[in-house]
Amino acid sequence: MPLIAPSILAADFGRLAEEARNVVAAGADWLHVDVMDGHFVPNLTLGPDIVGALDRATDVPLDVHLMIEEPEKYIEAFAKAGADYITVHQEVTDDLEGLFQLIESHGAKAGVAINPDTQIETVSPWIDRAALILVMSVFPGFGGQKFMPVALDKLRLLSGLKKRQGSSCLLEVDGGINPENVKLVLDAGVDVVVAGSAIFGSGDYPGTIGAMRAAA
Ligand code: DX5
Ligand code: ZN
Repeated sequence: MPLIAPSILAADFGRLAEEARNVVAAGADWLHVDVMDGHFVPNLTLGPDIVGALDRATDVPLDVHLMIEEPEKYIEAFAKAGADYITVHQEVTDDLEGLFQLIESHGAKAGVAINPDTQIETVSPWIDRAALILVMSVFPGFGGQKFMPVALDKLRLLSGLKKRQGSSCLLEVDGGINPENVKLVLDAGVDVVVAGSAIFGSGDYPGTIGAMRAAA
């Protein structure tokens, strides 16, 4: 069964703790927390203090997606704030092992993300090392964008590798996912589905999360 990780970027930031509690009560497995620095992506969102508030508001794993340059400067703060998974972008580093060790040294699980125009070969060798590989199905920066099918072949390749190598790495997809297209990524072998606007824009959190899970 897929894990459903609502992206709080699409939540009402004026009621963030309440929204987090509601979506968890509606069946969310994780909370996906989008961190943006206005440099790696053309948007600014939130920092460790908001992660801390979410950690106090719910008990589900916090899946922190760092869309930032120089993540090494902030990993400790996000881990201490309660991040369970910390995912960095392959595009911002030539020392992924160093970032992974830094994340793990602070007690979080290490993930790597790739943009739609980044080749899967840049991360597929990490399938036995990473706790999570995040395949972006939109260009990062904003919620509410259209799903990009280029993610499907990447997920299928990773899923095949995972089976052949007996890897426990979780495969995650993020961007433009909704109850109508989620079966595409489930059939491609994804383990964790991120959805923001499809859930928070639906007015029916249990129904939308249930529909996504039922597509499996
Ligand atoms: C985009 C973020 C995604 C986004 C998902 O930069 O990484 O997590 O919030 O939102 P939807 O599901 O609306 O595309
Ligand atoms: Zn994200």
